[in-house]
Amino acid sequence: MPESIKGLLKTHSCGELTSANIGESVTLCGWVNKYRDLGALHFIDIRDKFGVTQLGFEKFSGDISILKNASLESAILAKGKVQARPDSAKNKDMLTGEIEVQVEEFQVLSQSDKDNIPFLPHGLIDAKEDLRLKYRYLDLRTEKLQKMLTLRSDASRKVRNYLADNGFTEVETPVLYKSTPEGARDYIVPSRVHPGEVYALPQSPQTLKQLLMIGNTDKYYQIVKCFRDEDLRADRQPEFTQIDIEVSFATQEYIKNLATGLVQELFGYDSAFEVPVMSYDEAMETYGSDKPDLRFGLKHINATSVFADSGFSIFVNTAKENGLIKAIFVPESIGTFARKQIDALTEVVKPYGGKGVAWFKNTSEGLSGGISKFITDEILSKLESLSDEKGHGTWFFCADVNHDTAHSCADAVRRHFGKELSLIDKEKYAFVWIKDFPLLEWDDDGKRYVARHHPFTMPKIDELEAFMNSDPTDANGPLRNMKAEAYDLVCNGYEMGGGSVRIYQQNVQEKMFQVLGMTEEEALYQFGFFIEALKYGTPPHAGIAFGFDRTIMLLAKNDNIRDVIAFPKTNSATDLMAGSPSRPADAQTKELHFNWIKK
Ligand code: AMO
Repeated sequence: MPESIKGLLKTHSCGELTSANIGESVTLCGWVNKYRDLGALHFIDIRDKFGVTQLGFEKFSGDISILKNASLESAILAKGKVQARPDSAKNKDMLTGEIEVQVEEFQVLSQSDKDNIPFLPHGLIDAKEDLRLKYRYLDLRTEKLQKMLTLRSDASRKVRNYLADNGFTEVETPVLYKSTPEGARDYIVPSRVHPGEVYALPQSPQTLKQLLMIGNTDKYYQIVKCFRDEDLRADRQPEFTQIDIEVSFATQEYIKNLATGLVQELFGYDSAFEVPVMSYDEAMETYGSDKPDLRFGLKHINATSVFADSGFSIFVNTAKENGLIKAIFVPESIGTFARKQIDALTEVVKPYGGKGVAWFKNTSEGLSGGISKFITDEILSKLESLSDEKGHGTWFFCADVNHDTAHSCADAVRRHFGKELSLIDKEKYAFVWIKDFPLLEWDDDGKRYVARHHPFTMPKIDELEAFMNSDPTDANGPLRNMKAEAYDLVCNGYEMGGGSVRIYQQNVQEKMFQVLGMTEEEALYQFGFFIEALKYGTPPHAGIAFGFDRTIMLLAKNDNIRDVIAFPKTNSATDLMAGSPSRPADAQTKELHFNWIKK
């Protein structure tokens, strides 16, 4: 415990007294972890975030009946002398296991309502997550969550030190702002002063950090809250934290080097640490995902041409309709499959639009099962020529006329095998840069292009001229295949960070808004301030944002983002503890000039 600042009620934490302290007078504060009443002898285990210490009451001259008030989880104070435990009572597994504090003075600072406490944070019964979230302050008493808060705090200090050492300035940007498109819906805040008008909470400080570059800030960073109203998952929260970075006169190479150095710092690698680079196209082809988990193999094989003139009419049709047939080969040495396991794959691909997974086995007795009757020697040898591995094993196929569906289904199958066949080394981190992302995606419903990263991302430099001359309404024109100066940092199948080189020319930015289907008026209304700023001398600039919560999740080897946030929201974006969102008071809605629809 840091000693320098006086004024605490306690002299030591509950996790630090050892036989070196025997004879010292100490005061401990914490919670009642355990109370044992052995008639003549009474013991309390006092606990705080640092550990547990045993309190004995043999020397206590006060009224021992006070201990009746020391119900589990009550906050208490105990003053006394450190004494060696009798040999028989020593506990070698505990840091404080050699000693106990013989209490001279004892106070129940705040009694816990033992009959109504919803769960004991250190109880043996595992409370459901909803209950733990509702009483988050009790769950925060656990070692697991305290370790997480410490990990997070240490990581943010490392981030700050690393970036400061590299010449970065931390700048705060507004939270009451204007829409900043990052592909989600905005959270909006009605203005009282301006009837009928709203602020938007930033989905990221994207435009603001670019304006800081125009404003001579050179190297910016911020550990910042972002707000996105989108479908939530195990790695997504409606409000989350980014390590947001932007640098003037910087190349993609600079940002990658800087980010690699930051990962090295956070994950404790030495200077030989390097992150491999893979193009988006290769990632999709080989893993069916732009965030592949590289801790295990089972690469995808493009088997479309193999089946184009086979006897298997379903695959022939897929190939004819320019669809995609992806194969995964699992050698016998890695896994064998019972019929039940193979049938279960239908459920694995269903959420991704897949109807099923075709398969056959190659065993010492020949080919069998699934689509084996369509597999000629020629097909098998073609498949094997495309695969890194061959021989005995099971072949799986995901086919669809829609390439995205085939990719996602084959990705789901690969990830499923990774878990089911225990191919993932949980202690390992596999980082990879994914580069050359598509610039745009065609939105069939809206009949327009949408930005794949965000509207401020530079097209690949060698495609800039074609971009400037492109027709935004042509769904199958050159825009469809253009690539962006964008990159993601992926770790263990998670998108840990993403960034890009930015557009810094006003005419290119205006063209981008046009390509995204905005009229000139719409672009001016939403981004007029930004387009104007680009007129007055904009340095070329680039940046990146790390998902800080996801980074901590990875550091903690955890796969639930809620576990690394002190007060998280549920998957339906509610705060079970405070009960938010909640209905505004009538007086508030009146002041905000809004007609609220009451549920
Ligand atoms: P992007 O949208 O890729 O880029 O976000 C950057 C990183 O933030 C994390 N992230 C999230 N984490 C938790 N919950 C969410 N809902 C969530 N959404 C995103 C991810 C992601 O990689 N302004 C750009 C960055 C830039 O171009 O510099 C941006 O926000 O880890």
